[in-house]
Amino acid sequence: MSVPFYVTTPIFYVNDEPHIGHAYTTILADVLARYARLRGMETVFLTGTDEHGQKVQEAAQRRGVDPQTQADEMVVRFQRTWERLHVSHDDFIRTTEPRHIRVVEAVLQDLWDRGEIYLGEYEGWYCVPEERFWTEKDLVDGNCPDCGRPVERLVESNYFFRMSAYQDWLIEYIADHPSFIRPETRRNEVLGYLRKPLHDLCITRPVSRLGWGIPLPFDPDYVTYVWFDALINYVTAAGYLVDEERFSRLWPSVMHLIGKDILTTHSVYWTTMLRAIGLPQPRTILAHGWWTSSGDKISKSLGNAVRPLDMADIYGVDALRYFLVREATLGRDADFSQERVAHRYQGDLANDLGNLLHRLVNMIQRYCEGRIPEPGELAEVDTTLCDRCLALVDQTFRQVDALALNEALAQVMGTVGEINRYLERTAPWKQARAGRGERVATILYCAAEALRLTAILLQPVMPERVGELWHRLGWQAPSSLQDGLAWGSLQPGAPVIGGPPLFPREVGPAD
Ligand code: MSP
Repeated sequence: MSVPFYVTTPIFYVNDEPHIGHAYTTILADVLARYARLRGMETVFLTGTDEHGQKVQEAAQRRGVDPQTQADEMVVRFQRTWERLHVSHDDFIRTTEPRHIRVVEAVLQDLWDRGEIYLGEYEGWYCVPEERFWTEKDLVDGNCPDCGRPVERLVESNYFFRMSAYQDWLIEYIADHPSFIRPETRRNEVLGYLRKPLHDLCITRPVSRLGWGIPLPFDPDYVTYVWFDALINYVTAAGYLVDEERFSRLWPSVMHLIGKDILTTHSVYWTTMLRAIGLPQPRTILAHGWWTSSGDKISKSLGNAVRPLDMADIYGVDALRYFLVREATLGRDADFSQERVAHRYQGDLANDLGNLLHRLVNMIQRYCEGRIPEPGELAEVDTTLCDRCLALVDQTFRQVDALALNEALAQVMGTVGEINRYLERTAPWKQARAGRGERVATILYCAAEALRLTAILLQPVMPERVGELWHRLGWQAPSSLQDGLAWGSLQPGAPVIGGPPLFPREVGPAD
């Protein structure tokens, strides 16, 4: 049986509403999941919310509500945003759900029983916003090395996970599995981190200091550290300890999509936790870069957050998705600016893609009574176009496998350009004037079919707009989209449909 494609996003804190950074991770996972489905692979796409811990407790306190109410209110914002952004997740996990709490408790109990967890004393520098202890030498100018904010001195009894015992094993594992942590720069970063001695991981917080977490099954005075709880979501949702059949199919063929700021938690904490639990490692941990605004990371705390729905209101959801995937090289930072969005929108989408559809539909209405024409014998120029489109399918899937999504899109848009040039070269309007009706029919069929086929490769990125494009070409997509990947699916006689531009040049907020 073929290996299923299981892809996850980080689970998002419910302390605030989603911004463009959260949307990016989730849209990337969605695009990868949709490409996998297009290829007929069994796909499970998981996202969700991280609902315990200090950040959420503090956000709730600020608003004068209890943390569960805070979570219940915020989770709806995430769910609505993902729905609006055409995110097609198969499962949405919340860490306050009983299905997850049960697994966390079982893992903790098992690790405790086997001596992987012990009670110790922790003294260290604690960063409240990041919920992390740091050692003296981790600090940068006396501040948190991650967020730059001041840290506090704290001493307390806590439970520890024997993470240090796995350091040598982890270094060897990463060295032996070159495509485990991607891209290469992140892999090197983790190996660099592992050159320093690895400490044991403090995995509890005393209830007296932080009440909002999963209580330790063997000591009710403590709750579980939010990261230890959160990371386990990936196995909970795959059916760990509950549905062994499902779990053995999905695990370990999983791809964790994360931002580079949560690389250590995934590549060091999660990997060693899995090792201690006795589970195999995920297939890939893929860390993407940040969206920046004039060079600064976009974040709520920096006050430069871009709300994804605001951008979607102006340009449309699918154009926003296209921009995010086309503009960033997976793994590197990319700058978000209105000008860049506008440039991509007007150039790639309104001019190249939208205009091609518009021209084609107009010509079919004018020369072929508004119906997809019956093609005659193909000339060389026609078969070249057909071959080019068929080759594009394989090329695109190869690029997707290589996670070069921006290059895949560049290639697809290059083919859109070729269809435009094909029309210029074959000039059906001239053929029509010369009374060569059959040639006109063949050219317009080939151009329309090339556009239909090319658009399949854009469907994972712009599912709604591509659906509309097909509708205009009189094509009803088959329930298994994979069946539409061959040449010749457009049915002669199907009526084409005129309408407003697919991507109107004049854009603005919806209301
Ligand atoms: N709850 C943890 C993750 C637990 S996973 C077991 C968390 N949540 S978060 O709400 O802070 O969201 C984190 C995700 O959003 C990360 O992948 C992070 O990289 C991403 N982004 C947040 N700001 C970002 C940008 N400006 N640009 C791109 N992505 C960034 O961390």
